[in-house]
Amino acid sequence: MRQLVLMTSLLALAACEPSAPPAAAPTAAAAPVEPLDPRRDYHSYANTADFVVEHAVLDLTADFAARKLTGTVELRLARQRAAAAELVLDTRDLDVAKVEAAAGDGPWSAAHHALGARDPILGSPLTIHLPGGADRVRISYSSRPEATGLQWLEPSQTAGGAQPFLYTQAQAIHARSFVPLQDTPQVRMTYQATIRTPAALTAVMAAEFDAAAPRDGSFEFRMPQAIPPYLIALAVGDLAFRPMSARTGIWAEPQVLERAAWEFADTEKMVQKAEALYGPYAWGRYDILMLPPAFPWGGMENPRLTFANPTTLAGDRSLVALVAHELAHSWSGNLVTNATWRDAWLNEGFTTYFEGRIMEAVYGVERARMEQDIGQADLREALGQLSDADRTLGALTPDLRGRDPDDGFSRIPYEKGALFLRQLEARYGRERFDAFLKGWFEGHAFSSVSTTDFLAYLETELMAKQAAAEGGEADQAFVRRWLEGTDLPADAELVRSDAFDKVENATRTWRGGGPLEALAVVAKGWTVQEWQYFLDGLPRDLPAADLAALDARFKLTASRNAEVAHGWFKLAIAAGYHAADPALEAYLASVGRRKLIVPLYRELAKTPAGLAFAQRVYAKAKPLYHTVARSSIEELLAPKPQA
Ligand code: BES
Ligand code: ZN
Repeated sequence: MRQLVLMTSLLALAACEPSAPPAAAPTAAAAPVEPLDPRRDYHSYANTADFVVEHAVLDLTADFAARKLTGTVELRLARQRAAAAELVLDTRDLDVAKVEAAAGDGPWSAAHHALGARDPILGSPLTIHLPGGADRVRISYSSRPEATGLQWLEPSQTAGGAQPFLYTQAQAIHARSFVPLQDTPQVRMTYQATIRTPAALTAVMAAEFDAAAPRDGSFEFRMPQAIPPYLIALAVGDLAFRPMSARTGIWAEPQVLERAAWEFADTEKMVQKAEALYGPYAWGRYDILMLPPAFPWGGMENPRLTFANPTTLAGDRSLVALVAHELAHSWSGNLVTNATWRDAWLNEGFTTYFEGRIMEAVYGVERARMEQDIGQADLREALGQLSDADRTLGALTPDLRGRDPDDGFSRIPYEKGALFLRQLEARYGRERFDAFLKGWFEGHAFSSVSTTDFLAYLETELMAKQAAAEGGEADQAFVRRWLEGTDLPADAELVRSDAFDKVENATRTWRGGGPLEALAVVAKGWTVQEWQYFLDGLPRDLPAADLAALDARFKLTASRNAEVAHGWFKLAIAAGYHAADPALEAYLASVGRRKLIVPLYRELAKTPAGLAFAQRVYAKAKPLYHTVARSSIEELLAPKPQA
């Protein structure tokens, strides 16, 4: 009886039915007054109740001089409603030259089409009139230089310095800025592509291709597994390949290739541990593409070809959790995909949990605990930084209507989501929880799921079936607190690393007047994670003289580790330790990863002198940064309206 009541109430929580199509075109500006439909993607214009794109054929030329991708896309459609006569696609800043339609193998003929008004977040709907029976459209178009999903780099912004570079970043809603399509993670499609490049360059895509194909300016790709559009990915540059195992390898500029292959040598081991946990790797090869420093993310889980930021090349394998993370997405995200960006925690929270399990299996429980402990601290910081207007972003299922989904991607869906899953693991025991997760991936492979689907699965497959092992079972109030609460639930069971207790003790002794040499003796064996924890734990108002002493002893300003340097600079800015300024400036001018630079700009912007320094450095560094990094930084550096 209890179970029945629980089940009904959880489903009531879930509200609407999966099939409900969007009635009207969504607008970003619409005030969120209507009740929220948990299955509806508010970030797409696509009329998926009428047509679904099943396959795309791309033929695109990368024109570096004009900074445009130019060519055609053919979309093969599955008609969902017999009377449907209009196809609505997502576009943003595309120049559409021609639209044609065809039925079956029939000839192409011009199709009426209209580009709607541009919404700053969603872009413009492209409405195409389809004559009866038409099930294919072909669009001739060009992207614009300002396409948010593309970054065109000058040779000077690459490792080699001689050739330009292009890469795409489609997640969350940037695919529409370089291909007109149904840009919603509710739709899955296969694709094939011909990419034409200048003769000296190589094109790679997150798809199947022949790594040994001649570099003759034309490259063929095939993605036989159905993917959501945010996983379409392309890069063009001076690229070479080096295998690491039979199914893993590195793509990079020749200058970076060997370093990357050394750093990520454990990749095959990670794939094996991941498979042992949650079932076979579904995508064939697992390769890693090293991008230039401008890449705004640490990594991107493009299928078969993770895109990685070079800040992960620390020279000591200390930052390889990134590979564990992107690899884990091969299950949580790429196989089982969030249906809307509001459900992003189903991708990122699951992946962060899974990442921890891979790290534990390959490097041991202490390393995994340290990384989780740091993640928890990040979560507390992110929750603490939310303004009242952004409070909804503290929930695992925030209301993102009217917002750019990129702005919903703080540490919160990652770390709160992972912590929620760890609570379930603790309550039901690892064995049962692993079986539950494996079943989730198997049962929902190649489909898109909402939090509603997860709740139903959680209820039937875990909560109703299994007696809780310890700590009480998960009831509805518990689930609600985790999903909808905008704070950290008070009863959260946190991970604690013993190694960090030791760091804290040594820090306390030093801060209490103990000799720096005693700290140095303990710190001798510290890993990068212990250094991160140490730096994050120091008070922000530490006397500059103490920073000078630390710097003299440990050479922190000169750290080559991007995470350690980040932690140190953050502290140095807060404490006013200006000896680090030249190195800080060099760091900001050479790192494009949003997570590493935005907190530094935020810290700088807190004082007038810091703000002036930040504005000067930003003016110089801006050409390096990707638009998603630029917009976060510009928000911080903009003159504040007087309250
Ligand atoms: N999918 C994300 C990157 C992303 C998020 C792109 C949101 C666009 C919008 C990727 O898997 C990721 O989480 N990267 C992290 C890696 C880290 C958690 C190890 C990053 O970039 O920092
Ligand atoms: Zn991720």
